[in-house]
Amino acid sequence: MTEPSTYPVPAEWAEKARVDAKRYDQLYGLALADPGSFWLEQAKRLDWIKRPEIAGDWSFDEADFRIRWFADGKLNVSANCIDRHLKTRGDQVAILWEPDSPDEAPRSYTYRQLHAEVCRFANVLKAAGARKGDRITIYMPMIPEAAFALLACTRIGAIHSVVFGGFSPEALAGRITDCDSTIVVTADEGRRGGKHVPLKANVDEAAKHVRCLDKVVVVKATGGEVAMQDGRDIWYHEAAAAVSADCPVEPMGAEDPLFILYTSGSTGKPKGVLHSTGGYLLWASLTHELVFDYRPGQIYWCAADIGWVTGHSYIVYGPLANGATTLMYEGLPNWPTPSRIWQVVDRHKVEILYTAPTALRALMKEGDDFVTATSRASLKLLGTVGEPINPEAWRWYHSVVGEERCPIVDTWWQTETGGAMITPMPGATALKPGSATKPMFGVEPQIVDGEGTILNGATEGNLVIARSWPGQMRTVWGDHARFFQTYFTTFPGKYTTGDGCRRDEDGYYWITGRVDDVINVSGHRMGTAEVESALVQHEKVAEAAVVGMPHDIKGQGIYAYVTLNANCEASEDLRAELRQWVRTEIGPIATPDAIQFAPGLPKTRSGKIMRRILRKIAEGDVSPQALGDTSTLADPAVVDDLVANRVTR
Ligand code: WTA
Repeated sequence: MTEPSTYPVPAEWAEKARVDAKRYDQLYGLALADPGSFWLEQAKRLDWIKRPEIAGDWSFDEADFRIRWFADGKLNVSANCIDRHLKTRGDQVAILWEPDSPDEAPRSYTYRQLHAEVCRFANVLKAAGARKGDRITIYMPMIPEAAFALLACTRIGAIHSVVFGGFSPEALAGRITDCDSTIVVTADEGRRGGKHVPLKANVDEAAKHVRCLDKVVVVKATGGEVAMQDGRDIWYHEAAAAVSADCPVEPMGAEDPLFILYTSGSTGKPKGVLHSTGGYLLWASLTHELVFDYRPGQIYWCAADIGWVTGHSYIVYGPLANGATTLMYEGLPNWPTPSRIWQVVDRHKVEILYTAPTALRALMKEGDDFVTATSRASLKLLGTVGEPINPEAWRWYHSVVGEERCPIVDTWWQTETGGAMITPMPGATALKPGSATKPMFGVEPQIVDGEGTILNGATEGNLVIARSWPGQMRTVWGDHARFFQTYFTTFPGKYTTGDGCRRDEDGYYWITGRVDDVINVSGHRMGTAEVESALVQHEKVAEAAVVGMPHDIKGQGIYAYVTLNANCEASEDLRAELRQWVRTEIGPIATPDAIQFAPGLPKTRSGKIMRRILRKIAEGDVSPQALGDTSTLADPAVVDDLVANRVTR
């Protein structure tokens, strides 16, 4: 039997969902035809201190480049995510927390409790000197206090910068310094899959390379031994006992910065993506409600980490703005058994599950028994994000996990976009495995060729977005010129996504992956330049070039070509040392999967590394057609050597 290529909207979804196919077309058309009224109407979903009278005010042209939404409005994010729900659902669970170990009891916080926790946290931050506009770095495990810390920042108008707990002290130090954070919030240790991560010790190490840091607020999570530095380090539980459980909200302009989140690009060090208060919250909340067709009372689980944008928008801000019950999970999907993710679903009666293709592929490999041993009867809707999902994994998710009753929303978006951009809506969109389907309201995708010519109909090329949307990032922290340069100069007048994309005859979008020097490892963005710069800092390395390689589970793996300094010997030991080196410099997610020692790299006569050739060799595609014309290289013979010594690890 051949698998269907299209999965129609199930009748009951078409009937009861907020948006059906007809409504989708209507609203999509309206948002493009009259964006001013459309967005002012949508803005009513938020609680404004001063309601805005202008919606978008933007231009992607260099002369009058600006991106502003609801600029005359005033609001507070934590009031929207907490206070406004107190009257109607104060006793409903806001955050449900599942610990790393299944033997430990879950914890939950109602909206009322969340209010008290966040107010206390905000008061502790204030006592530590935090003021409106200050940057606060959050380096936390997946515990409820991480969400409290984010919301506490928004309550007092401080700008948070969350750094994923898997990043090394070096990477952390760079991010603290880049935005001049005066306060870091961390925990004694994190836990994942039974292992402890020394977060506080990492902060201590990072602090040695940082000048701006004034206070470190430490949450006691595991009770592990940590060193506390007098005058700098504050135990959260001690400080919290001394402050009030009430804290007024700071009124913020819609365009005031909300948070910074560092992400990798083609070149240079990670960029601090800055999101604004009003537009971001509106986008997170609207997309959360429509994409998941979220209904009050449903248990919703986004299995991402708060260290990534998915955690920001779809664990914290979107769901809480909508008064949802959001599940936060500390551990790994496959620990202590590959059934764990489904056991968590059963334990908490999760109705909506949002996860990454890489997790699905890893679980799929373990066999169906780990899934079928669980009930999953509560599941109604499934989602994926972070990388293209291969149709095989999609079908497994659909048939084995969802028993063919749950639509799958494959949501394409980026740190820069704030929330879902191209995505199905379960009551409106027939699904095609592997396609992110159709644009969200207000999103105008275009496919352009290398010269920027718009390609119509069924076609393939570069994905750009032709107009601004409320959730769009506003700048790169501290470098507005880089913001413009990175996103608006390749195809002038348009936002460049960096993704390749195909559009089929039904107008469905299929993301084909990055077209720049960013690779997507297990759904995490990695700049090849970052890994290269870590490698060349090793004393034995003269030069390095990093490209992506296909990887069954991770989607893409990291393939590094390394040229050693004269007199340095290649060896297995050195290979292991270099892997460890990159882990220490950046973090485990950047560990190269394969390292090839190369006496020379393919370069043009002007000295530019021909990455196209390196990519092909890493992919194992070494036919003359694949490698193309190598005669323009300074030394064509290096290619033969690279092909002959290709490695698989
Ligand atoms: C990729 C994560 C295909 C894409 C929210 C994008 C996807 C990058 C999908 C952003 C998807 C994300 N299908 N590709 N559904 N979702 N991507 O900033 O290459 O961590 O540019 O944001 O992930 O990664 P980021």
